[in-house]
Amino acid sequence: MRPVFVDTDVGIDDAIALLMLLRAPDLTIIGIGGVDGNCPLDAVMRNIAIVLDVAGAAPIPVYRGATRPLMGTRPTFDIVHGDDGLGGVAHHFGSPPANHAPLPAAMALVEAARATPGTLDVLALGPLTNIALAFLLEPDLPRLVRRFFIMGGTLTAQGNVTPVAEFNIWADAEAAKIVLKSDANITLITWEATLAHTIPWPTWQAMLAGQSHIAHFVHAMSSDLAARCRTEWGYAGMPLPDPLAAAVLMQPEGVRQAYQCRVAVETQGLARGLTVPQTTHQAPANIQVVEQFDPTIWHRMLQRTFTHES
Ligand code: BDR
Ligand code: CA
Repeated sequence: MRPVFVDTDVGIDDAIALLMLLRAPDLTIIGIGGVDGNCPLDAVMRNIAIVLDVAGAAPIPVYRGATRPLMGTRPTFDIVHGDDGLGGVAHHFGSPPANHAPLPAAMALVEAARATPGTLDVLALGPLTNIALAFLLEPDLPRLVRRFFIMGGTLTAQGNVTPVAEFNIWADAEAAKIVLKSDANITLITWEATLAHTIPWPTWQAMLAGQSHIAHFVHAMSSDLAARCRTEWGYAGMPLPDPLAAAVLMQPEGVRQAYQCRVAVETQGLARGLTVPQTTHQAPANIQVVEQFDPTIWHRMLQRTFTHES
């Protein structure tokens, strides 16, 4: 079983990504870190517990992470996931028992990487605050972790939170800079990759039409967001950034088109959070940017997740 550490700011699409990973037959989630992002950290931690409960998952250690970015105060951009981070449905679930471990998430990631040298994969679905802190605590992290799969950035400046910046990078641009300028083995799933893999609306509706309680849960938390994506923002289908990143981690051989580069992060002014692809001969191009993932595998993974009964 491949060991995986997930860092997340659950979030509607983070929740779907977790449900997918919990269905994967060949990997084991050895820890989940929560980070402030789509909603405040307390809500993130409650949402992780809700998702694990809905999935009927075996106990997984869950670690509290950063309550704000490395610099400044927490960014507020709650229009996508709602105040509770789960599209307004969190209150239906109360407070399921949480398996909160005492270590902070960054330290837990360092410990997990030291315990599994060269074999651990990390999936980062939120702002990169916890991951950057782990890099500062353990400079050897790039070699201890086999591969980082990161949902973040837009290398063609198609922003979703500002005209040029994607949320996860913008929300903690200093953390993103630390992580992306390292020599770690990184696979980046960007906002434009997300837009290239939206699920057409009729397919999305059909996927959630089943009677499984997972389909009901996903439908309930995502229906307002889907309506706004369709009517207000004019997307051709449902954008699923974090589930796409999870899919790439689950089946990296499904990547059909990608390129290698280094990525610089702008931290100042109007272009804060801009991610710029760079080719340089001075340092290896350690970041794989995913452009196309196999649509059959992608749709099958989602369908399998939504039809699952725990
Ligand atoms: C990213 O930002 C969040 O809203 C989503 O959960 C995803 O991780 C997309 O820009
Ligand atoms: Ca997220």
